[in-house]
Amino acid sequence: MPKAKRTATVFVCTECGSEFTKWQGRCNSCGAWNTLKEFNPGHDVTGSGRKSSLGYSGTEDSVVQLGDVKDVVGIRTSTNFAEFDRVLGGGLVKGSVILLAGDPGAGKSTLLLQIAAALCHQEKTLYVSGEESLQQIANRARRLRLDAEQILLASLTSVEQIAELVVKENPGIVVVDSIQVMHTDDLDNMPGSVTQVRESATRLTHLAKQTQTAVIFVGHVTKEGNLAGPKVLEHIIDCFIMLDSPAGSRFRTLRSVKNRFGAVNELGVFAMTDQGLREVKNPSAIFLERSEESGPGSVVTVLWEGTRPLLVEIQALVDEVQSGYPRRVAVGLDSQRLSMQLAIMHRHCGITLNDQDVFANVTGGVRTNETATDLATIMAVYSSFRSRPSPRELVVFGELGLTGEIRPVPNGQERLREAQKHGFTQAIIPFANQPKKPIKGIETYPVKTLGDALETLTQLPISN
Ligand code: TYD
Ligand code: MG
Repeated sequence: MPKAKRTATVFVCTECGSEFTKWQGRCNSCGAWNTLKEFNPGHDVTGSGRKSSLGYSGTEDSVVQLGDVKDVVGIRTSTNFAEFDRVLGGGLVKGSVILLAGDPGAGKSTLLLQIAAALCHQEKTLYVSGEESLQQIANRARRLRLDAEQILLASLTSVEQIAELVVKENPGIVVVDSIQVMHTDDLDNMPGSVTQVRESATRLTHLAKQTQTAVIFVGHVTKEGNLAGPKVLEHIIDCFIMLDSPAGSRFRTLRSVKNRFGAVNELGVFAMTDQGLREVKNPSAIFLERSEESGPGSVVTVLWEGTRPLLVEIQALVDEVQSGYPRRVAVGLDSQRLSMQLAIMHRHCGITLNDQDVFANVTGGVRTNETATDLATIMAVYSSFRSRPSPRELVVFGELGLTGEIRPVPNGQERLREAQKHGFTQAIIPFANQPKKPIKGIETYPVKTLGDALETLTQLPISN
């Protein structure tokens, strides 16, 4: 393939992907030494509009009326996995590019093979693997008893070869497993370097738009939780989905971090079984599996995940300081918010934990940064501190303000209904979330301040 004429040269850090107009010894962004490499972005496939050697043209009319632009977002293909569709915002959009990222071993290849098998009967589906041999993929499909005979498989790592194949076969869906092993012949950088990953993703994205093929990239997350070339892919792709695999858990949560065609923070839940990934239709029931005698320090709350409620248990442990200074550790919750909640409890309720270590955790490996968890977290802390369990049938939600007030949260009614559906009969909630009509089966205790809330908790009889 002839090299494109150089237009402008930039220097790109192979560690973090930052761009500079001049070479320098050290990257100003990430501080790495000797990582800047010369890079020529002026290549036709990336969108300058000339006819490319890949056999399609990048040309689009420069000006059109908005009304004349086809609505492709309205045309969605279901992946046949409701949890995956939900996270995408209702299914795959033609010509869209999705990045599915997660730890090695999370189950990305398994999930995409299952999806490809479900889709291949309605759309031509191409699975390109640069990591596993065709034999390995076929074996996995057979072991999972997938009806996957019609999937087109290719073992490739060259972007140019993939593009040729896509133009020739014209599939509706292409899986690229993984983007980190892809490379373009036009760059001398090693496959896996940030520059290669970014350029490969850019070219394949352009190909997706031109051919109206939905492309799903697999991306591995490094130990530090970064995608190789942190952030470099985020602005290229349309949807960024994370497959989380909490240590030791067979559950996998799928969450959209970015979505140009739907809401972010939608949550899908799967379980890894010996038959591959299975959808979990009622995640509240899973995350709430509590032992019979849950002692002090456990409070159940209702999260709002995208478009649905999710019941989770928040646990806290308060114990005398073990080393010089008091520790505040939050797992699955925001540590800074925990410190803030403790300060509010001290200032407005006179309860000081200065000589105590405080740990808080959301069970089941769930992670949330919803402020609606404030009240449940501080109540779990209070329950542990006072060594007094909270009632088993109680749920709590509400945001805590710096002045000690309990602020309302969105979707209060739906949260209450979800709690009632799962057998909860009492709820401490923000005053402003009090339903106009009582919800049958659940008694609500609306509170205005943290002081009110803690007093209400103390007065509720403990049934367990
Ligand atoms: P894989 O899809 O290869 O992960 P990734 O592509 O994200 O690196 O999944 C690998 C893990 O999943 C591996 O530890 C084995 C486990 N697994 C099952 O438990 N059951 C199954 O049916 C399959 C296919 C994999
Ligand atoms: Mg894999």
